[in-house]
Amino acid sequence: SLYRDATPPWRNAAGMDLSDPVHADRLRRDLQQFANAQWQAAPLVAGQWLEGEAQPVRNPAQRDEIVGTVVAASDAAIDSALSAAASAQAAWDAAGIEQRAGCLERLAELMETHCHELMALLSREAGRTLDDGLSEVREAIDFCRYYAQQARLRLAPQVLPGPTGEVNELTLHGRGVFVCISPWNFPLAIFTGQVVAALVAGNSVIAKPAEQTPLIAARAVSLMREAGVPDDVLQLLPGDGARVGAALVADNRVAGVAFTGSTQTAKLINRTLADRDGALPVLIAETGGLNCMLVDATALPEQVVDDVVISAFQSAGQRCSALRVMYLQDDIADKVLGMLGGAMKELRIGDPARLETDIGPVIDTEAQAMLERHVERMEREATPIASCELGSEALAGTFFAPRVYGIERLDQLESEVFGPILHVIRYRASELSAVLESINRSGYGLTLGVHSRIDGFARDVFKATRVGNTYINRNMVGAIVGVNPFGGQGLSGTGPKAGGPHYLLRFVTEKTRTDNV
Ligand code: NAD
Ligand code: ALA
Repeated sequence: SLYRDATPPWRNAAGMDLSDPVHADRLRRDLQQFANAQWQAAPLVAGQWLEGEAQPVRNPAQRDEIVGTVVAASDAAIDSALSAAASAQAAWDAAGIEQRAGCLERLAELMETHCHELMALLSREAGRTLDDGLSEVREAIDFCRYYAQQARLRLAPQVLPGPTGEVNELTLHGRGVFVCISPWNFPLAIFTGQVVAALVAGNSVIAKPAEQTPLIAARAVSLMREAGVPDDVLQLLPGDGARVGAALVADNRVAGVAFTGSTQTAKLINRTLADRDGALPVLIAETGGLNCMLVDATALPEQVVDDVVISAFQSAGQRCSALRVMYLQDDIADKVLGMLGGAMKELRIGDPARLETDIGPVIDTEAQAMLERHVERMEREATPIASCELGSEALAGTFFAPRVYGIERLDQLESEVFGPILHVIRYRASELSAVLESINRSGYGLTLGVHSRIDGFARDVFKATRVGNTYINRNMVGAIVGVNPFGGQGLSGTGPKAGGPHYLLRFVTEKTRTDNV
């Protein structure tokens, strides 16, 4: 067979049909219990939640609603967390794969049990719609089960053949202390995925969640402890990236960094790691994209419009995988854009805790201001094509209405615009190779969409582009663990792909023992 390494059978987490009144009513009742709940986050160091000055965390859909409080890690807490993690790692590595994988599997069960609470928290702290929240809890559960299975499959010791009388054994070990730095846009799934991968590989972990979403991180960490992760093995340090994150990365007790966030921050971290004294640390960086979709004249307009709406606007466009630039072949451009404008009028933008809502808020006032600045620029330099209206409830939160602009060239956008703004470039069939060249020239390589009914077209585009995840005749978001291993190239990340069979290998170091018995 052409293929090797097929993953043994396993099951992704079950979903629920939110359009089924039985499920929807139960969810509504459960969410009601958490409508006024308050959560807390604080540094967790050597099994102790530390006290300090608590700051409010606000609901992005209603800025005057406080969801809980967070205590930021002090410099002393950072130092204690590093010492605790460094001294705990060897015993955790020696505890073996079975014990570590068992913790991940118990965590998956706990997340299933607490699914509705996690969805409520995702919606109130991060503005995630219920649909997005459910997918995110499922993804976190999938990471736990998939990495547990992958650890058993790929991290077990191997005995290798050698000359008579010689025994050769290859063993894989945690590298040491891993720092996991995560973004706010998947505050549960990415946070959990990084941490459990590092843990199951035998590392101790210091987790640094995004400033905007410490509460969901603290709740996940509580469940990790309940699942059996020992006290010193896992530390949580909420706080500012430029202070807490930077201090962790600069410390030579840290053997590896798993980072997901902007390309700019990844470069800063890379520079700090390179300049450090002592051993050479590893960096796994998953970053942003300037993601394009190519739509040729044979594409089905109805399907294109459905997939564009999901890819560009779901999660308020706050996905690294989201569609930013649609290349639309001239022959069908007017038809597709007319239908897209109509579909956008149907989008319901509002409270993410309501089942009917399609699009929630953007994360904070800074994100909103950045998008408004981009709109001002587009109003001067581009052609407005379509937009949505916001209702009066949008005034209470950081909402932003999706928009579409026509531009001439990809290099008019220097970098990722992280929100629900779609750019459209019309092209003629004769310009295809120039289009592909400009996609590669951007330097980003995260996701790419293709809509075409010509087999060879999608195959040629796939071959010609340096992109991590290509989606053909479907939307281009929502990679599924173990099914669509996810991650980019170039400015979009170092690899290996999250939710794929090679991910854990980057978290380990190898030892060979040759014994002439
Ligand atoms: P960000 O880079 O601002 O922050 C990410 C994390 O880095 C946060 O925890 C932050 O506190 C921390 N940080 C900031 N400065 C730091 C420093 N100097 N040293 C160490 N840590 C520091 O990104 P964001 O705004 O939170 O997230 C959005 C970005 O993440 C987008 O660019 C998006 O494309 C990207 N993203 C990528 C993926 C992927 O899988 N490729 C997934 C989700 C998000
Ligand atoms: N893994 C996420 C997606 O595919 C970012 O949308």
